[in-house]
Amino acid sequence: MLEVTNLDVRYGAIHAIRGVSLSVPEGMVVTLIGANGAGKTTILRTLSGLLRATGGGVRFLGDEITGLPSHQIVKRGLVHIPEGRIVFANMSVLENLELGAYLRRDREVKSDLERVFVLFPRLKERIHQSAGTLSGGEQQMLAIGRGLMSRPRFLLMDEPSLGLAPLLVQGIFEIVREIHRQGTTILLVEQNAHMALQVADFAYVLESGHIVMSGPAAEIAQDPRVRDAYLGGA
Ligand SMILES: Nc1ncnc2c1ncn2[C@@H]1O[C@H](COP(=O)(O)OP(=O)(O)OP(=O)(O)O)[C@@H](O)[C@H]1O
Ligand SMILES: [Mg+2]
Repeated sequence: MLEVTNLDVRYGAIHAIRGVSLSVPEGMVVTLIGANGAGKTTILRTLSGLLRATGGGVRFLGDEITGLPSHQIVKRGLVHIPEGRIVFANMSVLENLELGAYLRRDREVKSDLERVFVLFPRLKERIHQSAGTLSGGEQQMLAIGRGLMSRPRFLLMDEPSLGLAPLLVQGIFEIVREIHRQGTTILLVEQNAHMALQVADFAYVLESGHIVMSGPAAEIAQDPRVRDAYLGGA
């Protein structure tokens, strides 16, 4: 569904992504794990058109999307939920969710709202509360809910569990599973490698802008180097 070939991204003199190739087949959850600064967010931002690649290509559903503006990429069903619970603080929960559907012209926005509220009952209770006053975990739920409102066929998720209490982390990963079960393909970026490898079918390990290892998530989770570096030696 998504094919990334020899991707290169530079920030001026900094060569952040060096020849990354990866593929995400339809219906799968693929995870990209790596330490701080490895280049995970840079890859997602390039895939969703927020950054320009300096080399290589991206194909989505068979079409070249390299260099397309991000709104055209969203229209094709490739949606990015950014790192860091980004919500519009002065707008209500409902307004934030409605914004997620702004590129759509169909009349099913209401049923999609209901779907989001089934996943996140907490948001329904707070529908008129301004987003800036939600707790961190609630803001993360809202950021995910807003992404779902654009009807993604393919979701790029950047650190959905970042900064959340352990109980909520568990909840967010259950949501990821549920979104996948409902038919969305997912590329998941996480520092919580332990959880990500449990949810994913396939995994890539990124170090300093390179893919250093890839394989079925269950095998990657057993690899001694991965266990030492990313799973606390567990
Ligand atoms: N706008 C920028 N200008 C210059 N360098 C940047 C910029 N954005 C990111 N970088 C650098 O690119 C590298 C990769 O950053 P990136 O944010 O992709 O890492 P990451 O794997 O997402 O890390 P984290 O786990 O901390 O979120 C880092 O060395 C970072 O300092
Ligand atoms: Mg990041």
